[in-house]
Amino acid sequence: MKSYFRKEIDAIAGYTAGEQPKIANLIKLNTNENPYPPSPAVAAALREFDIARLRRYPDPFADELRDIFAADCNVKRDNVIVGNGSDDLLTMCFRGFTSPEHPVAVFEPSYSLYPVLAAMQGAPVIKVALEGDDFAYPRDISAQTASANLLVITRPNAPTGNVCPKSLVREYCENFDGMVLIDEAYGDFAEDNCMDLAAEYENVIVMRTFSKSCSMAGVRLGYAVSSTTVIAGLMKLKDSYNSDMLSQIVAKANYLDKAYRNECIAAIRRDRDLMRDGLLELGFAVPASQANFLFAAPPDGDGEAAFRYLRENAVLVRYFKGDVTGRYIRITIGTPEENLRVMELLKARYA
Ligand SMILES: Cc1ncc(COP(=O)(O)O)c(C=O)c1O
Repeated sequence: MKSYFRKEIDAIAGYTAGEQPKIANLIKLNTNENPYPPSPAVAAALREFDIARLRRYPDPFADELRDIFAADCNVKRDNVIVGNGSDDLLTMCFRGFTSPEHPVAVFEPSYSLYPVLAAMQGAPVIKVALEGDDFAYPRDISAQTASANLLVITRPNAPTGNVCPKSLVREYCENFDGMVLIDEAYGDFAEDNCMDLAAEYENVIVMRTFSKSCSMAGVRLGYAVSSTTVIAGLMKLKDSYNSDMLSQIVAKANYLDKAYRNECIAAIRRDRDLMRDGLLELGFAVPASQANFLFAAPPDGDGEAAFRYLRENAVLVRYFKGDVTGRYIRITIGTPEENLRVMELLKARYA
């Protein structure tokens, strides 16, 4: 059939989401979900919820949540926007800030959705290569990114797990003439974050998600913080009711239980560091990670073979084709039992 899509859409391969398999007893460590359930407060909130309320539309702005996030981030409600997951917020940003005449600059490797969103806009993508085995951020990116209107910094980075030093993020923000989007999907697992930069610089957006540290990938909720002008602009780009009523209710109940969340985060960080030590002992190359996953290259540099071997043994991790990324697998930190099983399998093959 003749295609009626815009030529940009026909040219896109589409984003490949991590597999969500239905196989029983599979250890699923491929999409950086949290191995622990959300707070028990979520079940209580759902029990108390009056089902009749569902006949009404939700609050289109999710103001209760905006107030909670604003208070935590030391900003005002008008500095916050809520999204249907952070992918929704990313879509708004790419719609608003990229076009064939407005390129985006991203680091390579980083989250593989960014180039797909750029392609939908017909926007050129400038790829700034991370350097060496530790995927270091280049000091001066100003010449390379001069024509870009949007710069995306993923912090901690995915899939590598390392962090761009905050002093360097600040330098990028000061020198870049365009919007700087700091994607902190994994920020809660890191030693520091860049939320204060969203208040300090008018051209900075910091984005968070409930999918990782908040154990709620199934709920689809994220938020972004920026100057009031930028948030007002993003509001024009969002779907009217982009966050549904149930998401807003369970997200609130879950978010307010900080003690529980911090316990889960602490356990994941501890297990991540233990697993990294174990992998280094086996001769893997593993950049230091501040996220809830490890990017690990087996001693033979064959990431795909490691991926297949684990898959045959009922462990699903993530593999990204490519000259550099193809040497690695990305392993989400699971429960201690799951992590132990991964290490047993890897020892059996690589020790
Ligand atoms: C760097 C990064 N940003 C954003 C997202 C999207 O998260 P959400 O589930 O909130 O759409 C992911 C998901 O894996 C991610 O890795």
